Amino acid sequence: MTRFVDPNPDGEGETEALDPALRPVRLDDYVGQDRIKDNLRVYIRAALQRGEALDHVLLSGPPGLGKTSMAHILAEELGVELRMASGPTLERGGDLAAILNGLGPREVLFIDEIHRMNRAVEEILYPAMEDFQIDLILGQGPGAQSVRLPLQRFTLVGATTRSGLLTAPLRARFGIHCALDFYTPAELKKILLRSAERLALDIEDAAADELAGRCRGTPRIANRLLRRIRDFAQVETGGRIDVALTRRALERLEVDARGLDAMDRRILEVIALKFDGGPVGLSNLSAAIGEETDTIEEVYEPFLIREGLLQRTPQGRVVTSGGWKVVGVEPPPAKGGLFR
Ligand SMILES: Nc1ncnc2c1ncn2[C@@H]1O[C@H](COP(=O)(O)OP(=O)(O)OP(=O)(O)O)[C@@H](O)[C@H]1O
Ligand SMILES: [Mg+2]
Repeated sequence: MTRFVDPNPDGEGETEALDPALRPVRLDDYVGQDRIKDNLRVYIRAALQRGEALDHVLLSGPPGLGKTSMAHILAEELGVELRMASGPTLERGGDLAAILNGLGPREVLFIDEIHRMNRAVEEILYPAMEDFQIDLILGQGPGAQSVRLPLQRFTLVGATTRSGLLTAPLRARFGIHCALDFYTPAELKKILLRSAERLALDIEDAAADELAGRCRGTPRIANRLLRRIRDFAQVETGGRIDVALTRRALERLEVDARGLDAMDRRILEVIALKFDGGPVGLSNLSAAIGEETDTIEEVYEPFLIREGLLQRTPQGRVVTSGGWKVVGVEPPPAKGGLFR
């Protein structure tokens, strides 16, 4: 099933590759996450004043909330280069050692999906983060020698959609933790209006409000829906994006009034109707809807939980009374009673 509001990076190409202009470049362009931004401003200034590298930063949160954007911004604000790597593509310790050895002073190394690094790679990272050195083993057997290689002081920026999967020693080596949260409709409206301006779109204020409330609290989805609505506007209203057109387009895209898409509703429906509202284990749910467990946990659930439609309990996933309402069915009396 293709999921229109899928905030996964594999759909990232569309918005982010075609419209790099939509990515915020400076901290001031980055809408929302005010507490995080305020603190980062202080840390950046202090590091710059001391002429030191910024402490290591861990960015966590659901897909599409602005982790990669923030990594770029940090390098920009620090006035240094950003080097990019990704947890799953670093196969051997040597791969990472080579990247670390190539870093200039105070540069930023961004490792995306840092929870998906293997053990050997992770172990290179510990002394690199803590003491700015790596220990290389040369040769094998009794003749093997350990050589200590000093590194430039650098900033590691790690991004993860699953901070719970980070090992304790890795997590402990980040001095700054930023947990990004879903955006408010007002923040999303700001992002949408800015994107519309950059794309030279003619959008009514009320249409921006409508869309802002229906993009799952996620800037990437906001921008993606805006691009699709632009297509409908071009064909149906000569380019003008008004409320009526926005509603029509969202209906065609199967995005409902609160921003849930077909897959969100399907998850709630399956738990409610096939599993009597739950609790159902993640692997059973995964089999029933034909979606990977990781994807369910990373992409779909955070928003459903945040909206109070679904709960994670030790016994499994449970649909709340709000979730039953979305499904449009009365819960069985015993189950419904739990949440009343
Ligand atoms: N705070 C923000 N202000 C304005 N636009 C934003 C903001 N955060 C994200 N965006 C927009 O959303 C897009 C997606 O953000 P980004 O790629 O940084 O998300 P991500 O958290 O790295 O997602 P993933 O976990 O999938 O890698 C950006 O290209 C940008 O257009
Ligand atoms: Mg990213």
